[in-house]
Amino acid sequence: MESKGLILWLTGLSGSGKTTIAKGVERELRERSCLVELLDGDVVRTNLSKGLGFSREDRDTNIRRIGFVANLLSRNGVVAIIAAISPYRAARDEIRRMTQNFIEVYINAPLEVCEARDVKGLYAMARAGEVRAFTGIDDPYEEPLNADIVCYTSEESVEESIAKVVAELERLNYIPPKPQVEYSI
Ligand code: ADX
Repeated sequence: MESKGLILWLTGLSGSGKTTIAKGVERELRERSCLVELLDGDVVRTNLSKGLGFSREDRDTNIRRIGFVANLLSRNGVVAIIAAISPYRAARDEIRRMTQNFIEVYINAPLEVCEARDVKGLYAMARAGEVRAFTGIDDPYEEPLNADIVCYTSEESVEESIAKVVAELERLNYIPPKPQVEYSI
């Protein structure tokens, strides 16, 4: 069985672990010979969405662009993994409606935990007023109400979160089971 195309949409606060989990899932899927592409918000913003800021309008444009590309990929059998804050429910729901196979993964970590991690130092800058409209600080994050999968990254290990996502894709028959290693004597 080959993989079926789908959009695996990881949403969550900055520093919640979206990119780490997305890369881990990508690795697992490649091991199963699935076609897979990763669209990461930080990367997309250096090319496809270069020049866009963080106003509601710009974020919506960013998400629509990502959704457009993800849709092209997924309808051709690719597992398109998205890692983007995508803070607005309406924008995420818009993508869900335009596509057949959409799985929403909420990468859930409390703001305090993300802020303590502060991988890129942006929370400190936001608190100091040096970065404006920062998600979770002075711009909203609208939690998914019916996420297909929730990863609690302050409680689970990275590998547990990755395994949870992969297991659900397997259960839903999007991807084949992991090939068993055969030993011959
Ligand atoms: S989204 O809101 O449009 O989905 P996206 O995931 O593409 O955001 O980009 C978020 C990344 O941009 C963050 O990980 C962070 O590195 C950077 N960033 C810079 N300014 C902001 C801001 N005001 N709010 C959120 N992220 C920001």
